[in-house]
Amino acid sequence: MSTQNPDTGSSPASNTEDDVNRVKIFDTTLRDGEQSPGASMNLDEKMRIAHVLDEMGVDIIEAGFPIASNGDFEAVSRIAGMVQNASVCGLSRAATRDIDRAWEALRHAKRPRIHTFLSTSPLHMKYKLQMEPDAVHQAVIDSVTHARNLCEDVEWSPEDGSRTEHDFLCRCVESAIKAGATTINIPDTVGYTVPDEFADLIRMLIDRVPNIDKATISVHCHNDLGLAVANSLAAVSVGARQIECTINGLGERAGNAALEEVVMALKTRNDAMPYHTGVKTEHITRASRLVSTITGFPVQPNKAIVGANAFAHESGIHQDGMLKNAQTYEIMTPESVGLTKSNIVLGKLSGSHAFKAKLQELGYELGDNALKDAFQRFKALADRKKEIFDEDIVALVDDEVVRDHEHLVFKSLHVTCGSTGPQVAVLKLAVDGEEREATVTGNGPVDATFRAIGEIFPHHADLKLYQVHAVTEGTDAQAEVTVRLEEDGKLVSAQGADPDTLVASARAYLHALNKLITKRERTAPAEARIGA
Ligand code: KIV
Ligand code: ZN
Repeated sequence: MSTQNPDTGSSPASNTEDDVNRVKIFDTTLRDGEQSPGASMNLDEKMRIAHVLDEMGVDIIEAGFPIASNGDFEAVSRIAGMVQNASVCGLSRAATRDIDRAWEALRHAKRPRIHTFLSTSPLHMKYKLQMEPDAVHQAVIDSVTHARNLCEDVEWSPEDGSRTEHDFLCRCVESAIKAGATTINIPDTVGYTVPDEFADLIRMLIDRVPNIDKATISVHCHNDLGLAVANSLAAVSVGARQIECTINGLGERAGNAALEEVVMALKTRNDAMPYHTGVKTEHITRASRLVSTITGFPVQPNKAIVGANAFAHESGIHQDGMLKNAQTYEIMTPESVGLTKSNIVLGKLSGSHAFKAKLQELGYELGDNALKDAFQRFKALADRKKEIFDEDIVALVDDEVVRDHEHLVFKSLHVTCGSTGPQVAVLKLAVDGEEREATVTGNGPVDATFRAIGEIFPHHADLKLYQVHAVTEGTDAQAEVTVRLEEDGKLVSAQGADPDTLVASARAYLHALNKLITKRERTAPAEARIGA
């Protein structure tokens, strides 16, 4: 079995490049992840996620697709200027203006990377590109050459690589490296491959492409058959040294390989897979929660590593085993992924200094205004809830802080409900700074609340999902509500938190509407959308 030397085709982000077993983690939550229907994020939200990823120690952050819209361009450009440690990457098709636009957004990054791609499978070339293989091959050379003239760090991807004919794949990969690609990324775009087959494909490239040692081999696996993580790890076992992945496995359709699963599998089973990453795994839970709150995509309770039940033990036999020795039923510690024991942290009498210190411990650095707002909400919460846990603070701050500069701002809600009816909501909102109020009757308190929003801010979005869950235990727990809206084929999801389920519902609905408004403003030109 041959392995590849990651010394060559390097990302300058790695500080252990002489180590042949070091696997680079390329996070594409902000690009492929954002392509999940309904998972759009605004600029501030993307900056917050990029900051957490950088602190967590990922090697490369794919920040967006700059040609897709002005919003994407701005996000890549701002992230490029902010990120301190990781390489910042922008995606582009194989067209000069795409590549130029990506470079314009990336040029101020400490470590910029241009990622350019073109489909190479017979199916994609014939139906999607309507190009002959020779023309595709020439476009690979031209695009990579152009990108490399602008940027030292260039990644090239043959889209639908796992369904590409081997001879043609080898020919394109060899030419891309000759033209200056420093990373060759092999996507399983449609999540079709299986581990042995994918490992064989990577091995085949290592054996047959004469200059393959001049580039890092990367893999980008989709999860349509639930095999994205297994396929990525199989590729590493034969020489791939970069994995493309996303927090919570977000991404097109069934998503991408989940970063937390890839990283914890390599760490926990280092005996079977002697490879390592630079990720500080204690940041995983925080990153997962932030991405879930921002995108409004809840994490399923039984999700590996970051699900609410991942470290919970229900049956008596398991609990007994755990008390005797945690290793009986835990293969990794909750602390290793940043899950701390639920603490009663603060109470009604806690002051702003204690609150600020707690936020810092939980990984938040807030500006003065955001801190003031968050503290006010904390005080209001402490008046209503006896014990405040870390989870309460996280829900409250995520709800408050990630909502800067919104058109619609919640002010107050009073609902009359009960078995005798009618259910009436009296709602006050600020719409672009101007306060408005509506009193509306509905078929139940949630219906009345949502109708009141529609009365104040008429819109024609459809409610696609309404979901409530409790942040902690007990009847005074905060409710975390997820709302998904659709308008003209655009999907958005958002969450809201409050001890009052109806207030949390109103907040979630308003966050979703704010996202729709942002989305209307930054709709991508149709021709700039990509397949996966
Ligand atoms: O899935 C895919 O093929 C992609 C490429 C753009 C790398 O996302
Ligand atoms: Zn993809």
